Amino acid sequence: MSAAAYKIIDHTYDAVVVGAGGSGLRATMGIAEAGLKTACITKVFPTRSHTVAAQGGIAASLGNMGPDHWTWHMYDTVKGSDWLGDQDAIEYLCREAPAAVYELEHAGVPFSRTEEGKIYQRPFGGMMQNMGEGPPAQRTCAAADRTGHAMLHALYQQSLKYDADFFIEYFALDLIMDEQGNCRGVIALCMEDGSIHRFRAHNVVLATGGYGRCYFSATSAHTCTGDGGGMVLRAGLPLQDMEFVQFHPTGIYGAGVLITEGARGEGGYLTNSEGERFMERYAPSAKDLASRDVVSRSMAMEIREGRGVGKEGDHIYLHLDHIDPKVLAERLPGITETGKIFAGVDLTRQPLPVTPTVHYNMGGIPTNYHGEVVRLKDGNPDSVVPGLFAVGEAACVSVHGANRLGSNSLIDLVVFGRATGLRIKDTLKPGTPHAPLPKGSEELALGRLDHFRNAAGGSTTASVRSEMQKTMQRHCAVFRTDELLTEGRQMIRATYDRMKDIGIKDRSLIWNTDLVETLELDNLISQAVVTMESALNRKESRGAHVNEDFPDRDDANWMKHTVATFDGWGGQGGGVAIDYRPVHDYTLTDDIEYIKPKKRVY
Ligand code: FUM
Repeated sequence: MSAAAYKIIDHTYDAVVVGAGGSGLRATMGIAEAGLKTACITKVFPTRSHTVAAQGGIAASLGNMGPDHWTWHMYDTVKGSDWLGDQDAIEYLCREAPAAVYELEHAGVPFSRTEEGKIYQRPFGGMMQNMGEGPPAQRTCAAADRTGHAMLHALYQQSLKYDADFFIEYFALDLIMDEQGNCRGVIALCMEDGSIHRFRAHNVVLATGGYGRCYFSATSAHTCTGDGGGMVLRAGLPLQDMEFVQFHPTGIYGAGVLITEGARGEGGYLTNSEGERFMERYAPSAKDLASRDVVSRSMAMEIREGRGVGKEGDHIYLHLDHIDPKVLAERLPGITETGKIFAGVDLTRQPLPVTPTVHYNMGGIPTNYHGEVVRLKDGNPDSVVPGLFAVGEAACVSVHGANRLGSNSLIDLVVFGRATGLRIKDTLKPGTPHAPLPKGSEELALGRLDHFRNAAGGSTTASVRSEMQKTMQRHCAVFRTDELLTEGRQMIRATYDRMKDIGIKDRSLIWNTDLVETLELDNLISQAVVTMESALNRKESRGAHVNEDFPDRDDANWMKHTVATFDGWGGQGGGVAIDYRPVHDYTLTDDIEYIKPKKRVY
């Protein structure tokens, strides 16, 4: 069957949001509220989006449980990013954060409360008072340890009151780009009945989440396949800072399930095989509440030097057994349950076996703080791609730089989801006429769909995916070397080549999970290739990227964003081309000065 044989159902909207997690829903609400005709396409039911899994909380300098200020939050975020974050965007995030949290409170998020009835806030890694001087700031607003769950449900309920159309269990295939480089819409597959939908829109917002599933062990849901990033690469646009992959210190050993940093925020601590609280050696001031990259590396060092716990000495213990069971039941009920289910451990009496686990992609689709996708063009590093926006983990604004602080992800979702809605409201009038779509606007999407639907090679999707995940886990992890990365690059390219030999069994279009998983793998593998190449290219250590052959941060040569394109699909040989964008070394207003780089110690 050729691509031309697929029947297409056409839709026309002012804006289409792809993804219905926290950022996608917040963007949808803002755009619809502006009176623009809005659609939200999502491959899972909105309340199943991965935001539901966020546990510990959302950062905002409310100052409910001690002194705090947005400038302190900004300082910590810049330092956490190891000075790779754009300071104009970080200022925007931290200034807007308190209002965004109050908006959520009014939307019905059932935050935990202090005695006086204020929103409860806990300490989180790297969040300090007094421009990094300390003591720790209680800045992370929490709904027990189910903050993402509470937020997502409140946002979905709220979004229903707006006049937006939801296309649920629709899988976005590819962007429609015109010859001038404008984004004009998106093509999607309705997974239930196999129908193909062409959404013509003035603006497309990619809110498709991260691509954590290109690793073997990840806290991300199996749906985190970076579908927006895959579409962007196929449109010939770059992804930014893909070498920065966050490992969360406390994934349950073996299962990869997240144990919130809030556990350490409530007093939990890590020990090695000698029963030592080793974080005191690595981060004498912040200890177990140092930033995630520092804690994950310290754990990996302990394991490497023979002080890991367990039969194989390959993990670490997290202790909560000294905490009052009443506090555990009230503040950490979710992880108490997951500890029991996934590790067979009673947290009130036993330590939990944990290991650093892939958790978050700092890299993604480059945007400015309005959510507009940017690229290097004609010497302008901030050239906007007309009609295309990205938000949430799919985007790289960049507020997280080389390392994200815990609880800065949920706030990123709502602050930039809202900012995107505002930008679209300011730049698009309801009822603006649409120009005709470019000829063959469906060809890329349907050609690819048809190719994989009829793929009859000898490699199953599961076997190629597993090879990719193991290579990424081994060769592009917490500690990297040139040798490991060079070998990893060859291996991931060989795996990429196996995509030509993929074979699927189900040729139907009705709930064809064999096909959808293959399309997801295609999205993942191109980003795995770009991640490996970007990591090999960066000859320094910064934030989550540590190359032991270049152990120091090198601001003179590497304080810059990597931007990488990939001509894998349809090209010959999967070439990654790397360029750079400057880091924004300026703030948004005169209320705060540029925070100058210094050595990052906790
Ligand atoms: O540890 C956690 O609760 C995760 C939070 C985050 O990634 O922001």
